[in-house]
Amino acid sequence: SEIKEFIGQMPKAELHMHLEGALEPSLVRLIAQRNNLPVPSSVQEQDSGYSFNDLSSFLAVYYPNMAVLQTTQDFHDLAWSYLTKAHEQKIVYAEIFFDPQAHTSRGVEFATVISGYHSATIEAQEQFGMSASLIMCFLRDMDAQSAMNTLTEALPYKDKIIGVGLDSDERDNPPSKFATVFAKAREEGFLLTMHCDIDQKNSIEHIRQAVEEIGVDRMDHGTNIVENARLLNVVIERGIGLTCCPISNSVVTEDFKGADIKRLLHDGVKVTINSDDPAYFRGYLNENLEFISEKLSLTRSDLVQLQRNAFGIAWISHDDKSNYI
Ligand code: ADE
Ligand code: ZN
Repeated sequence: SEIKEFIGQMPKAELHMHLEGALEPSLVRLIAQRNNLPVPSSVQEQDSGYSFNDLSSFLAVYYPNMAVLQTTQDFHDLAWSYLTKAHEQKIVYAEIFFDPQAHTSRGVEFATVISGYHSATIEAQEQFGMSASLIMCFLRDMDAQSAMNTLTEALPYKDKIIGVGLDSDERDNPPSKFATVFAKAREEGFLLTMHCDIDQKNSIEHIRQAVEEIGVDRMDHGTNIVENARLLNVVIERGIGLTCCPISNSVVTEDFKGADIKRLLHDGVKVTINSDDPAYFRGYLNENLEFISEKLSLTRSDLVQLQRNAFGIAWISHDDKSNYI
């Protein structure tokens, strides 16, 4: 269709995707075989995709699959697989999350993870002229000390990491649990974001902590903010962007939050559309934009605004932004 072509040809930025969430079943199998490891049970004979129906059943597939990732080459190949796909979809700038604790907790060195991922971003710059920056996420279902140790391990690689985030299971793991870690990260010069997932039990309180106690520069998901006019104003005033993931939303809850996303967009909140875990939710950025524009009958001008928002809240210099918008 016309709108599909419009989405495809538009130069885009993606700000919310987890590299480990780009691990396609075919790549799991390939890496398992070359490392002489068993092929994880979630990977079927065919590449028919993973099976799960909410956040915890997703995470129960997501973590075990990572066991195949062992060497610098493995991490490189995973990032390269995403970056080539992103380039095909005309993404010219990407900020990509990674979960070091999911690897260091299995005995993989931090250096192995970061050097594999980083080398792929350099190659994408050289081969495609595409820029990509890494955001290190802490796993919120692990303790704050483990996050602090991870931050310390990352300090020698500061020039390769633009910011820090917080992901994994949000239940009973509020932002305040990581206040000290995020304060230290800010002191070290990292930009800050964190997941405030949709429809969490204490959604508004978590958003409040992220904005007021942690002082985040961005929020991942965060659409429950529509319920609180005061926080909504703070986000608009500070220009705090929200990185939304409609297909992911549609899998983890009944409602993909389209009405909230559209309202926020029209209220002038800097909302953006992203793929989250494209191999798992089975949609890269273009598919997410097609999904939401179809469901909400978005106009071309809405789609352009979503991309202006993405470049606008991207963690790049003002001068670099003017190259894109
Ligand atoms: N880690 C990777 N993907 C995630 C998601 N969708 N929610 C929470 N943590 C994640
Ligand atoms: Zn996410």
